[in-house]
Amino acid sequence: MIYLDHAATGLPRLPAALAALADAAALGSPGRGHHRVAAGASAALAEARGAVAALAGGGTVCFTSGATAALNQAILGLRPAPRAVAVDPLLHNAARRPVHALGVPVWTLPHDARGRVDVAASAREWPAEIELVVVGHASNVTGALQPVAALAELARARGARTVVDCAQTAGLGGALDVGDAELIAFSSHKALRAPAGAGALVVRGGVALEPRAYGGTGADAADPEMPAELPGRLEAGTHALPAIAALGRAARHALAEPFDPAPLAAALQRAVDRSGARVLAAGELPIVLFAIDGVAPLEVEEILDRAFDLVVRAGLHCAPAAHAHLGTLAEGGAVRASAGAGTTTDDLAALTDVLTRLAARTR
Ligand SMILES: Cc1ncc(COP(=O)(O)O)c(C=O)c1O
Repeated sequence: MIYLDHAATGLPRLPAALAALADAAALGSPGRGHHRVAAGASAALAEARGAVAALAGGGTVCFTSGATAALNQAILGLRPAPRAVAVDPLLHNAARRPVHALGVPVWTLPHDARGRVDVAASAREWPAEIELVVVGHASNVTGALQPVAALAELARARGARTVVDCAQTAGLGGALDVGDAELIAFSSHKALRAPAGAGALVVRGGVALEPRAYGGTGADAADPEMPAELPGRLEAGTHALPAIAALGRAARHALAEPFDPAPLAAALQRAVDRSGARVLAAGELPIVLFAIDGVAPLEVEEILDRAFDLVVRAGLHCAPAAHAHLGTLAEGGAVRASAGAGTTTDDLAALTDVLTRLAARTR
């Protein structure tokens, strides 16, 4: 099988992350007691927290079940709730739906034809009531990076906080570069290639958040309130230590051996370009959105899977805003090929070959 759906989940999993998962599965619960079993688990948790903080470029790491949980906590946990929110035009539903749930006015930041935010135009047109910016570091549909550092600087100058969805970029290019953004969300299972089940909300600049879940933390048990301090304030209940330890190990790997996505992004784009497929979007990440004229997107996915043993993903990719921007919403989206660290030149040659054959059938 040739797997080209790395933007959904990174496979094969990193062996070191799987080893960390197995090791931590034998441990107890962090912070639950003062005995040696709890202490061993706490040490593993602290080790993962340090690695994830380094990957994020600093901040307090609050572990979650994934990027979705982290984004919900960040967007819905701010007090007072923001009066209005600015978003990029390509947001994934993991960010878009919690923004919608706030029930406040949403302003789409000015952007170019690729959906890249225009920071200068944003500065000129900035509505005074914006108190929160929610932006994807890179789109899972177009692979395009947003200018998050400049945007976070602008937001801070205008008194707004910035939440960055780094689901697609964590694990690429070493430490995350999101400037002074206060809230950073990502998960274990994409470019980091750790198993699903863990994620992080990294909090910077002293932002206070109301918890989305209440419960035991192993400390201050007599107090009916959640602890005032992070990360305990946002980490109710027993930690998913195996998944967290795997995330930590993957973060260390990503820092020790940074993976530069640029050559792979260019190679993937060339592979699709050379076939008869029509490229709809391609960016800095190894993600290419395409169409084969005359074949519905879901049919392309099914044919490639069943007849050619090649896995891509069709549809809306949980990001209808991106497809609306690209004009592919009405036809049910498009086909996405996304490559990862394990993708070979043979895989990409096979993609070109298969797409060429499929496109030829429809002529
Ligand atoms: C851009 C983006 N944001 C958020 C998510 C959600 O991540 P998770 O599956 O960890 O909740 C995804 C994954 O589908 C994504 O691609």
